[in-house]
Amino acid sequence: MEKNRANIEALVKDRLKNDSTGHDWGHIERVRSLVLHIGKTEGANLLICELAVLLHDLIDDKIVDDEEKALREVTQVLHEESLLQEDSDHIIEIITTMSFSSGSKEGMRTLEGKVVQDADRLDAIGAIGIARTFMYGGSKGEAMHQPNLAPRTEPMTKEEYRHGESSIINHFYEKLFKLKNLMNTKTGRKLAEERHRFMEGYITQFLAEWEGRK
Ligand code: NI
Repeated sequence: MEKNRANIEALVKDRLKNDSTGHDWGHIERVRSLVLHIGKTEGANLLICELAVLLHDLIDDKIVDDEEKALREVTQVLHEESLLQEDSDHIIEIITTMSFSSGSKEGMRTLEGKVVQDADRLDAIGAIGIARTFMYGGSKGEAMHQPNLAPRTEPMTKEEYRHGESSIINHFYEKLFKLKNLMNTKTGRKLAEERHRFMEGYITQFLAEWEGRK
């Protein structure tokens, strides 16, 4: 298994090395630390969790243009690492259902899926989440804040979510502030609370400064 992990790590590092959207290798390492912590507390299969974390962003449409092709590649990688078929299927299931934008309402089926999704979402909130949000918005040329543009509160399709008009500050209302209540595990929820409060304080201060009140 050590070999599997090292091979997959090398591949992922290479794929994400030029990323400047907040989905770099540092993201993977942080989510891995979280997944090992949450997974241990919740009693999940840690190898499944860890491999899913390593591979999860290789098929994300934020990173790749052709998701189908990327998924075939990831499946091939798992095949080459001679994992059990059921483990490989499980990992693929997790990474294809976990993203926020896919709008998948049925939720994660397995404990490992729930743990991986929680860990990935935790890295999207708190101090790190704020930094990543500005990096991502900057990479897409989004405005930092547009006071006259209201956050979109209606449910959105993936297309609308990704390509409709928004601002980086609106992104907090459209996604980040929702994540705390979407946590699957008790451990994840506990970690999310503090990160959530930190973001609320940050936005309050941001808006006060923007309006010249502080
Ligand atoms: Ni991620």
